Amino acid sequence: MDPSMLRKVFGSFATGVTVVTAVGPDGRPVGVTVNSLTSVSLDPPLLLWCLANKSASLGAFTLGSAFAVHVLAAEQATVARHFARSGTDKFAGQAGPQDSASPPEVPGALVRLSCRVVRLDPGGDHTIILGELVSAELRPGAPLVFHASRFGRFALDEDPAAGSQDPWT
Ligand SMILES: Cc1cc2nc3c(=O)[nH]c(=O)nc-3n(C[C@H](O)[C@H](O)[C@H](O)COP(=O)(O)O)c2cc1C
Repeated sequence: MDPSMLRKVFGSFATGVTVVTAVGPDGRPVGVTVNSLTSVSLDPPLLLWCLANKSASLGAFTLGSAFAVHVLAAEQATVARHFARSGTDKFAGQAGPQDSASPPEVPGALVRLSCRVVRLDPGGDHTIILGELVSAELRPGAPLVFHASRFGRFALDEDPAAGSQDPWT
């Protein structure tokens, strides 16, 4: 299939946006904007995401290593763009210890999922990273949405009967 057509096809699937962070083998923090996140299993709690083999951050994800998934809030498109830039020190100038063993936090995110890599599988030009969820922190708020190469917001169905007041029920 023509690559630009394929991009359009994959991009037609609207997703949330996350930043996945980890600590590289050199002790430096890494962070990547990711929208390939998929929930896999409730028991045990598993999720997966796919990382391009050309990513400068690939070496930070090894069997058993820790990573954190941050689900971005609606006003964090700038954060998403920042972590989508390759080859820069994405944590330069950020407050807090840079040499910590735990994956850095992305302030302002709606959700932080602390995970451990349980499996790495080849997936074409990407690596499929299966993670076990160790703990989760979550706060209510509107999510950032990505569709057709653009960032936007989630709009509720106009019909009030279509959704519950409580987003978690
Ligand atoms: C909304 C959005 C979603 C993205 N999702 C992914 C993804 O799921 N997997 C991936 O490998 N790259 C994804 N990218 C691209 C990476 O964020 C980008 O290539 C980044 O520069 C990689 O950084 P690194 O080379 O420093 O690791 C996405 C970019 C954007 C803007």
